Formats: sequence, structure tokens, C-alpha cells
Amino acid sequence: MVLPTQVLPFRLPATIYFGIDAVNKVADEAVRCQAKRPVIICDPGVAKAGLAAQIQGILSKASLTAEVYDQVEPEPTVASLDRCVEWVRQGGFDLLVGVGGGSAMDTTKGVSVLLKNGGSIRDYFGIDKVPQRGLPYILVATTAGTGAEISNNAVFLDVEQKLKVGTVSPHCLADVAIVDPLLTVSMPPSVTAATGMDALTHAIESYTAVKATPLTELWSLESIRLIAKSLRTAVCRGGDLQARYDMALGSLDAGIALANASAGSVHALAYPLGGTYRVAHGVSNAMMMPYVLEYNYLADIPKFAKVAEAMGECLDGLCPREAAYKAVEAVRKLSQDVGIPQRMRDVGVPDSAVEAFVPGAMATARLMDNNPRRLTEKEVLDIYRRAW
Ligand SMILES: [Fe+2]
Repeated sequence: MVLPTQVLPFRLPATIYFGIDAVNKVADEAVRCQAKRPVIICDPGVAKAGLAAQIQGILSKASLTAEVYDQVEPEPTVASLDRCVEWVRQGGFDLLVGVGGGSAMDTTKGVSVLLKNGGSIRDYFGIDKVPQRGLPYILVATTAGTGAEISNNAVFLDVEQKLKVGTVSPHCLADVAIVDPLLTVSMPPSVTAATGMDALTHAIESYTAVKATPLTELWSLESIRLIAKSLRTAVCRGGDLQARYDMALGSLDAGIALANASAGSVHALAYPLGGTYRVAHGVSNAMMMPYVLEYNYLADIPKFAKVAEAMGECLDGLCPREAAYKAVEAVRKLSQDVGIPQRMRDVGVPDSAVEAFVPGAMATARLMDNNPRRLTEKEVLDIYRRAW
């Protein structure tokens, strides 16, 4: 047996709450942060669903009056982050409470970074570019998928580059992360499917990543098991609390693994679709995943066989290579069953656009270098063509 030799940090938000009614912990934590003027950051949908008002009510029990910024955009641009930063700066707030999916939570991280460090978020794109910890922030997840409440990065659409770009830093780890399965119950099936497949991408990519360690693999595998078990039910019968509980926990577990082992080429190849055609993050990942895994699985047959096993595939009588390939089939079946578009053409991407995605994918070196199998431009184009 060859012992792993890489020694990597394992970091998480300082405090994590998971469970039914975990959202009530916002009040205790705001008090612990000595907040006087909290602001809730969310998108219009979250505000309309009453979740911002619910958190205002919880904070009021601690005698705190929270204002609400509800203009976060889906797949937020640098400009939309700047608008939020300006609004929060003028309000003189001392605690940020980001409520929502990845867009609201990443915006909250960006606001924290920029209020303390100044400049543009473009100054901090890349790894470990943020000099100082910013304003304290609590992240409350309302989807089961992005893992943004746990992750150490914040991703924004740079319209000029037509690319989603990330700031990766320990300062993008929340002071407090809250995952309450009850908050996810009102998610419509299409959002449940897309965010759930994003979580599965995090689980599988982190498990097979170059930077995977024994500390991250545990979370990845458990996450794959939970998502494979419960995503179909969560999509088809949204009121099923056990399925929502499993998905919230699976997403949290995947986020813990992702925050430390990072993602790979599925995310890298998916980002240009989001940048150019505004395909939702979860959908673009789900579309690319079977094609990238089909390329990747030969790089680590034992691990991909474990993925297949965790997804509940019957591996009796199969040789290791066949068992590993079952992981690809299992992902494709799950994606089809939850109604994800399977090809780029299904979401309006023209054939002529595909070639232009290649440089954007190759430029995401932090992800491409973390993929279990090397990809050249030729192979990336080949995968895009298959996925078209
Ligand atoms: Fe993701």
C-alpha cells in the first residue's frame, strides 16, 4: 500500500449549525458577534417567500432590528456585488446575514471582503489574495446544493471576461454557517434538482480530486450516498421531510469536502456556459458531469467504483473497470430522473459557440489542475462536443 504524502489544511467556518429549526441560532450568534446593526442580504425570491421576514423576527427577539437588502441577482455579476457593497456601506451595518443559495451567500462574502479591504473584487480573484478578514457574517442556506455556507470561495460573473471568476481565501469562510432543512422545503422541483446535482458534483469532484485527503474523502462519500438516496424523492415529493433532511445534510457534507479538496474539470467546463449563456450553475454542472466523468474514471478506477457503490449501484460480478464505469451511468440516470437538460443544445447553446468555451475552461487552472486526469485543449473540446 502506498501511503498518501500530501499534507493539506482542513478548514471550516468557525461555527456550524445543522438541524431542524437551526435558523433560530441566528439570534444567539448575532449577540455573540456584539452586533448592533445587522443587515440581511438576499434575493427578491427569498424575501418574497418570507424568509427574510422570518429572520428579522428571530433577530427581534434579541432586540435587534435588521434591515433587508433583497436585490441580489442570480449568478451575480461584479456590478451587482458593487451595488450591494455601496448600499451596505451607506447603511453603516456591523453584521451581515446572507440568506439564500450561492448567489446571496457569495455576495455576502464579497461585501465582507470589500468593506474591509476596499477596491474591486477583481483585485482579489484567485487564491489567497484577500489581505484582511472583513465584516463578520452569518450564512443561512435556503437551498441544498451550493455549499457556499461552508466553502472558502465566492464566485462572480465578470461580464467583461464573460467568465465566472472566484475569490478563494480563508476570509471567505463564514463566521457562522446555518443549515436548516425546513428552509429548503419550499424550493420548487427544478431548483431542488439543479442545486442537488451541484451538491453531487461537489461530492464526486472533491472525492476524486488531486487535493482529496483522508479527511475530505469521508465527507464526500457520505454526501454521495445521501444525495443518491434522496434527491429523486426531494424533487418528486418536495414536502418529504426525510428527503429534505438528507439533501440538506448531503449538501453540507459535500460543502465540507469541497471547501478543502476543491472541485475539478466539471466545474471548470461548466463555468463558461454560465458566463456566456447564463445557464444556472447546477444545471451546467449536471450537464457536463457525465461527459467529464467518462473521461476521468480511468484515472482512478478504485475510487470511481466506490462512487458507484455509494450511489447504490449493483456491482456484483463486475470487473473493477466495469464497476467504475457504473459511476458514470448512475450520475446520468439520476440527472435524467430529476429532469435536468442533458445536452447544451437543450438550453439554447448553438453548435458554433462550443469552441469558444475552451479557453475559458482552460483558464480555470485551480480547477483543471485539481482534476484526477489531465485535460488538454483537444480533450476539452472533445468533451464539449459530446455534451452539445
Ligand atoms: Fe458548484
